[in-house]
Parts: sequence; structure tokens; C-alpha cells
Amino acid sequence: MTDTTSTPSPGRGRTSEGAAVQGERRIITALFCDVVNSTALAEQLDPEDWTEILNEAFQHLTAPILRYEGTVAKLMGDAVLAFFGAPVAHEDDPRRAVLAALDMIAAIGAFRETVKSERGLEFDVRIGINTGPVVVADIGARAMDALGDAINVAARMEQAAGPGTILLSGDTYRLLAPLFDVEALGEIELKGKADRVPAFRVIGPKAAPGRVRGIDGVSAPLIGRDREFARLRDAMTSVLSGRGQIVGLLGEAGLGKSRMLSELKQEWDRASPPNRWIVLSGVPYDASRPYGLFQNYARSMFGVELNDPVETIHDKIVATLRGHGKDEETIALCATAFERVIAARTLLDGSRYDVEVVKNDIYNTLSPGLARHARNGPLVLVVDDLHWADPASVELLLALLSLVEDVPLLIVFALRPERQSAAWRIRQRAETDYPHRYTELSLRPLDATDTNALVSALLSIADLPAELRQLILRKTDGNPYFVEEIVRTLIDEGVVRQTADGLHWEAKTDVSEIAIPDTLQALLMTRIDRLDQETRSTLQLASVIGRSFYYSILKRISESAMALDRQLLSLERVELLLESARLPELEYMFKHELARDAAYGSLLNRKRRDFHRRVGEAIETIFVGRLEEQAHRLARHFDLAGDTAKAQRYYEVAAETAASMHATAESAAHLAHALDCARKNGAPPTDLERLAARQAALLGAATQTLPGSA
Ligand SMILES: Nc1ncnc2c1ncn2[C@@H]1O[C@H](COP(=O)(O)OP(=O)(O)OP(=O)(O)O)[C@@H](O)[C@H]1O
Ligand SMILES: [Mg+2]
Repeated sequence: MTDTTSTPSPGRGRTSEGAAVQGERRIITALFCDVVNSTALAEQLDPEDWTEILNEAFQHLTAPILRYEGTVAKLMGDAVLAFFGAPVAHEDDPRRAVLAALDMIAAIGAFRETVKSERGLEFDVRIGINTGPVVVADIGARAMDALGDAINVAARMEQAAGPGTILLSGDTYRLLAPLFDVEALGEIELKGKADRVPAFRVIGPKAAPGRVRGIDGVSAPLIGRDREFARLRDAMTSVLSGRGQIVGLLGEAGLGKSRMLSELKQEWDRASPPNRWIVLSGVPYDASRPYGLFQNYARSMFGVELNDPVETIHDKIVATLRGHGKDEETIALCATAFERVIAARTLLDGSRYDVEVVKNDIYNTLSPGLARHARNGPLVLVVDDLHWADPASVELLLALLSLVEDVPLLIVFALRPERQSAAWRIRQRAETDYPHRYTELSLRPLDATDTNALVSALLSIADLPAELRQLILRKTDGNPYFVEEIVRTLIDEGVVRQTADGLHWEAKTDVSEIAIPDTLQALLMTRIDRLDQETRSTLQLASVIGRSFYYSILKRISESAMALDRQLLSLERVELLLESARLPELEYMFKHELARDAAYGSLLNRKRRDFHRRVGEAIETIFVGRLEEQAHRLARHFDLAGDTAKAQRYYEVAAETAASMHATAESAAHLAHALDCARKNGAPPTDLERLAARQAALLGAATQTLPGSA
């Protein structure tokens, strides 16, 4: 056996190299905003006046960035660079960036008029947005920097934008097409770029936004879920016969809560007259906006349009309330309360009303309104994405639950099982106070048969290779959304070709790994970003070991061995990790392989190499004396660490171990890797010949033994 007993040095290089390696790889949406013609403007003004104008403009520009939880990364002269997705990811970062940009343009609109009338100057800004991978440095610190072509493209988009407009790159637009109206500007030339790139000017949010999920031209029927859907149907039947009901749909992101709701709607529409289906939705960036959940409902209740000024909103609310026969005093109070819900501003001075009064006014209008509606015939109130509801909306919903005792109302809420969300109380209240009317449906991942059926429905390809199918199953863990996104990636990467008559498998491509789709990277990073810095680092470190890992190895290489147990416990609690075995060795695994991929994908290449080396060295120490059985792991870790000499040796050991167990194909594969490493290493020709000869002998032996073994 080759020399594998090098001195154990788990911490070697940790301080020197580890400390130097800062930052993370992330997918971000970068927003560049710049003042149009600033040089000419600055020339006409005293520097102090110019600074004053810019300072005020920056205030208008940064407020929307913060409102959508972006980060102002840099103020540079007369430009602002903002990131959506760093230091904290949101699953809808591109959308947030565009909404912020629209608000920025609107805010500057008013300011622009003032500058024009007071100083006679034409002041305006333009914005460019792009989404892509970057390296973000100094996470958590005040200042943040990101490097990567994605930022340059955002800057170039901004330079190509006209005054008062927003340009999106193709990479951003692709993620948002169902949500915003745009004008396609064709391919534009970008300074310093060889290829022309597509650009899109944002017109505004779509009046009827489409679904961001699903794949154009590819769809699957609802698969599995028969039992859950039957219970949903029972609740519906009860309500149709006059008995109010509450249903809670619980499940992790992507398991199909919204899909169940839309299937239910189809059934309901067949059984009930129109307009008896009300939808409220939690919005991720509105989780702190009071009554945000009810904003759209209040709008439709009073016939308020999206761009109505506050005076019109006031008039419409007053007119509707008069129609309900309320007295003038109540009307004045309620109007103010609802103006707050709809526009967050009030026509009259709203500050003299206290919170309790506002709350009662809203409740006293909404509750009888809904009751009246339901008395006219069975009614459904759907609350999707309840986990994002603001606390005030949760209070209101809690109060509305009691309506099911009196009227034929079906309240269905869909909720991710996040116990710390304000919305969790709704589930608890339904369970304790209305057990006789409450049905809870917990969606679990699809089983292997159903996942397979879903893959077949989406990829109706006769000759789909079995390994690819297995890979999809392994990566997606029965989550339908993950399946869709992986299939989309296969289409995007040309592994599967989409034509008018369906999907086709491109046999020439070899797929052994699928890159994690950007959408899932973002979704999974939101969970990882919620961890404290040390726990997060531990998770990243664990991701280098693999989807499942021995506690002993992690402990050996962890920076904070003392805190490790606590961190593992909290990682189990947030369901990123599971304890997969106690005996013979304590072992953990990532609950989702894609979560491992996301954590691993966020590590800088240098850090990854360093971690792989540390993992390799830890295995050498812990499994000393049993290195043959670990050789394939050691080989991979040292290979990924860039230590090709060690990797070559271990690949050879792994090859011999496999050969001794008659696993000829594996053995040959290990030798192929060993040869690869030897070449990278500049090994002498004799070495290469020896390896090639061994490989040939193995393959020869394999063909010879085949007939006999058959
Ligand atoms: N049982 C199923 N059969 C076929 N497709 C499904 C099934 N369940 C979900 N899907 C599809 O998977 C995708 C994700 O489902 P959906 O959006 O309903 O998840 P969700 O639970 O609402 O997630 P989130 O918490 O993020 O809102 C959708 O495109 C949906 O159509
Ligand atoms: Mg949903």
C-alpha cells in the first residue's frame, strides 16, 4: 500500500489560507442607477448645491431599495449600486429589484419636477438590472462588494437605458416574464462585450400576472394526492350544504399547496355560481406591512384601481360605505382605516386614531361584509402563502375564523410549516377552538412511484436513460417544484430538446450531474441565510464532506468543535439536516441533496479546495489502518483539493480494492481518474504506461470473465 500515514494536521493552513479566503459565491440581482447627464449638470452648479441635490435624490433612491430588502452596496459619485440577494437571499429577488426600480423612478418623478421648477434643471435617472453569479465579499460587514460579470452587465444595461427608464438583461427578464410588461429592445451592443445581449425595457407590473412556476408548453396532471384531495372535496361539499369549514394545507415550499388550491377552484367553479371565491395572498416583502394581506381584497371591495390617488380612494370608500347604510361618523373613521390598508396613507390626518380603533373599524366592516356575502350563498376564502402574513392581518384572520360557525364559508389557508411565523397562531387556533370544523392536510413529498410518474408526465420521452431518471429522483426528493425546475434546467442546457410535438432526449449528451437551478439555489439559500454565521459555516463545511457525513469527521475539521453539537441541533431543528445513523458511527445527512448543493455552491473555489483537503486529512487520521475502504472518498477529496499526487495514489488503491471485489467497471473508472491525475501531475511516462496497462488488463479480464460468469 502507498504511504498514507502522513502526520495528522487537521488545522493546517486554516489560519493562513482560511483567513485570507473571504466571501461567498452567490446569485444576485444587481441594480445600477445613475443620474443622467450628471457632468453637464454639475458644471452648471456650485458644488455645494449639486451635493445637496444629490443627497436628496439618494434619499428618494435608497428608500425603495430598503423597502424591498435590498442592500445599498455602494454610492459612487452620482450612482447607486444595490444588490438583491446578498447578504441575504430571498426567493423572489429579481422581482423585488424591478419593483424597487419602479418605485425609484416614481419617487424621482416628483423630485425632478421640484428641481425643474426651482432651479430650471433637467434631473433624471436611469436604471439597469441584471441577475447572475458573483463573489460577494465581506458578508455581514457594513460595506459590501461584489465582483463578477453580472455586475458589469447591470452597469452596461444602465448606460444603455434612456432617462427615466429601466432596462433588464435577458437573464433577469427570463425569471420575470409572467409578472411584468416589457418592451423587447432586441439585442444591444455592450461596450467591452463580444456578444450582443438582449435587453428589455420595463413598462410596469402586469395587470393579471401569470404563474412564475411551471414550464411553458409542458404540464403534468395532479399526481398522487388522492387522499388529500378527497378530504378537501369533503370540506367543500360540507360548505355547499351550508356548514362552514376551515382547512389548513401545510407543506414545505414546492410540495403543491397552491396547486391543490387551484385544483379545488376548478371543482368549486363547477359546483357554485361565479364570484364566490376570494383569494388573499401573503407577499414576502409585505410581511411587515399592516393588513398587507387584505390590501387587494379591500381594493376590490371598494372598486379602487391600482393608480387611484388617495382622494379618489377616499371618495370610493365613502360611497361604498354609504351604500351599506353606515352613519357619517363611522364612515369617516372606516374610510381612514381602509385608506391605510390600501394606500398606507390617509386623506385626513390619520394619526389621531389609535391602533385599536383602526383595528375595530376594519374588523367591523370586513366581518359583516364577508358574512353577508356568504349568506347569499356558499363562499370560499382562500389565504395562500399565509406564512408571509403580517401580524395585523393574522389578528384579523383569527377574528374572522368564527364566521364559519354561522355562515357557509370555507376558509382554506396554505402555510409552510414555519413555527416562528406570526401565521402559526391561525393553525393553532383552528385546531384548538374549531376542531369540529377544522381539517388539516400535511403535504408530504411524493413517493418514488409518484415522483417517477411526474417525471414521465413532464418528460414524455421514451428513451430517457435510466441513470438520468435516477439522478432526477435523487436530486428532487419527491418535491414537485424541484422536479419541474430540474426538468427546466435540462431543457435550458440542451440535454432535452423542446419542439412543437413535445420533448426529445438528446442522446449525445452525457449527464452525470445536474447544476442546481438558480431558482432553487435562491429558495434554498433563504433557509441557509437565516442561520447565524457560525452555524452557516458549519453547514458549508459539512456540504464538502457530502450529502451524508460522519460526525467524527466534521468534528475534527470544524472551527468551533465546542459549539458543534448546538449547531447540529439547530440545523436539525430547521430541517436542513437529519440524523441518519447512530451506530456504528453517528452520521448526519442533508435532508435535501439540493440543499447540500446550494451550500456547497456558495463556497469560493479556493475555500472548497481547502475544505476538501481538510476533509481528506481528517479521514486519513480517523480511519488510519482502514484506508483501503475509504480510498475512493480520499481520492475524490484530494482530487477536488487539487492535490493530484495524493489523489492519484488513492485512486489506485481504490481501483485495486474494487478489483479485488470483482467490481471491474468501478475499478477501471478509478484507474481512469488516476491516469487523469497522473497527467495533470506531469508524472513520468513509465507511470502512465503502467496505469494504462493495468486498465487494459482489467478491461481485458472483464471481457474474458463475462461469458463464464453469465
Ligand atoms: N401533485 C402534483 N402533481 C403535479 N404537479 C404538481 C403537484 N404538486 C405540485 N405540482 C407542481 O409543482 C409546482 C410547485 O407547486 P406549488 O407552487 O403548488 O407549491 P407550494 O406548496 O404552493 O409552494 P410554496 O410554499 O413555495 O408556495 C407547481 O408548478 C405545481 O403545478
Ligand atoms: Mg404556493
